[in-house]
Amino acid sequence: MFGFIKKPDLKLIKTSKEDEIIPNLISTIANLTIENHQQFTDLIRLALKALEEKDPYTEGHSLRVTKYAIKIGKEYGLDKEDLRELELSSLLHDIGKLGIPDSILKKPDRLTKSEYKFMQEHSRKGAEIVAQIKTVSHIKKNILHHHERYNGFGYPDGLKGNKIPIISRIIFIADTFDAMTSKRSYREPFSEKEALEEIERGKGYQFDPKLVDMFLKLFIKKKNKKIS
Ligand SMILES: [Fe+2]
Repeated sequence: MFGFIKKPDLKLIKTSKEDEIIPNLISTIANLTIENHQQFTDLIRLALKALEEKDPYTEGHSLRVTKYAIKIGKEYGLDKEDLRELELSSLLHDIGKLGIPDSILKKPDRLTKSEYKFMQEHSRKGAEIVAQIKTVSHIKKNILHHHERYNGFGYPDGLKGNKIPIISRIIFIADTFDAMTSKRSYREPFSEKEALEEIERGKGYQFDPKLVDMFLKLFIKKKNKKIS
């Protein structure tokens, strides 16, 4: 078995009728014409609410990831338009989890190998969802690649370095940090210090080294502000 990764049989994971409701709802929304900013904001809110209903562990996660991501984006020097794209992509980065069966998403224990493989499909599913909605279809690539690693060992396409969209590289750091500092049913949260050390350890491997430096700098700035 060494050196040989067996492709999991995704058909073994059952999906229920309820699991299909939300993707169907998204197809319906995709056919609506979004006329103004309010309708657009409502659509995003609806999508996040649906995601939180389905996966209570994500409550607040998308908003916190967006907050961290915007800070990194500003430090990096993204312009106004790119920051808007970053905001939208961060808010919707895990929207593909709507297409993941509850048996996996709400499993209180650690996932098995094949369940984890199925869970990884959320980035592709998310990209497919946003691609259907004209107003947000431009963020498809950012969603698709938000779990790519800088060294090419991420998913779904194993993109490496600067081949990974900058917005996805930013989201990956913000997402990982928030996941580590949040409580899970199978583990206690990392402290802020421990999570930052982990992020630093992933510099150049998991994460873009430049962005890691910027992220760490943000926390040093925050600390200094507290002191003064
Ligand atoms: Fe994700």
